[in-house]
Amino acid sequence: MNKQLSNWTVLGIETSCDETAAAVYTTENGILSSKLFSQIEQQKMFGGVVPEIASRTHVEKIEPIITEALQAAGKTLNDINVIAVTSKPGLPGSLLVGACFAKSLAYALKIPIIGVNHLEGHAFSSFLEYTPPFPHICLTASGGHTSLYLITDYGKYKTIGQTTDDAAGEAFDKIAKLIGLPYPGGPEIEKMAQAVNFVDFFNYTRAKKPTLDFSFSGLKTAVLYDLVKRGAYDLATKTLLDHSLELKQQVSSSLLVAIRDIFIQKLEIALKLNPEIKSVSFVGGVACNKYLKAALANFCSKNGLEYFTPSPKYCTDNAAMIAFVGHYMAQREQFDDLDLDIL
Ligand code: KG4
Ligand code: ZN
Repeated sequence: MNKQLSNWTVLGIETSCDETAAAVYTTENGILSSKLFSQIEQQKMFGGVVPEIASRTHVEKIEPIITEALQAAGKTLNDINVIAVTSKPGLPGSLLVGACFAKSLAYALKIPIIGVNHLEGHAFSSFLEYTPPFPHICLTASGGHTSLYLITDYGKYKTIGQTTDDAAGEAFDKIAKLIGLPYPGGPEIEKMAQAVNFVDFFNYTRAKKPTLDFSFSGLKTAVLYDLVKRGAYDLATKTLLDHSLELKQQVSSSLLVAIRDIFIQKLEIALKLNPEIKSVSFVGGVACNKYLKAALANFCSKNGLEYFTPSPKYCTDNAAMIAFVGHYMAQREQFDDLDLDIL
């Protein structure tokens, strides 16, 4: 590769769900800026993401966010020599906004474009701040995905476990809704659980399957039926009958401990199957949870593993992780054509 072309200034663009994000990453200095517009306030009104609203908001916000990211990096569009854009998976209408904008820029600036898998972005998000040794296991837990990746090099990863139904973040969001907590549920559940010191009040059944796949819909059902049994929820009318803070705290705390146990059980299995593992990372929106982060750190230290978790700004959806993956793909000249699809 000629020297000039190995010096990349990447503009990363992420619009797979409800965050409009842009970032600048350079070969010389790594991440220079990472900006986003979160639609969380809009989504709160509807108790979740409304795809139509998400894509319309991306259309409004994508240009100002890219401008902000360039300014914060001290760069202009003319400094950018490759564009990395999330091309899958995600909400089609949302992905299309980012992909079309990225293609237009690449065409106008006559620079290459790279489609990045959003999940590869999450899987390598801890590499923005750290250099975990390989082989590495990454637990990604977000609102849309819960997966375990075995990572042996940059861009070389294998999914060794994933959710067969709801994602972990989705379980937090759905159960929060059930007990009258606002969206997004994860941070609310954490606050409630912390107030009662993370005690396991209700000991919800954890499906102890000896596989690496996750299942959270059973846990949601266990919480629901436990509420019914306690006379706190009416199944026929689907209404919460007990609005006490005490119930919210006890359900939240028991749920968080159950999810902790599920994560640790899966990591134990993964390590048994892959004893050569040197390090573990915990990423995705759910990795903002301080209790879970600490529990996994403790597990790793007991098992002699290095442990990494990104700063919260790189745990939730962001474009820095997309620019990072785009950067190592650019170094390998893994470019896409302008007919890059989002599926
Ligand atoms: O990665 P992310 O921003 O978006 C997706 O790609 O889905 O993750 C959002 C998810 C939501 O389900 C939210 O409830 C969860 O991450 N989350 C948390 C916490 N903060 C966000 N879950 C548990 N504890 C938290 N502190
Ligand atoms: Zn995500």
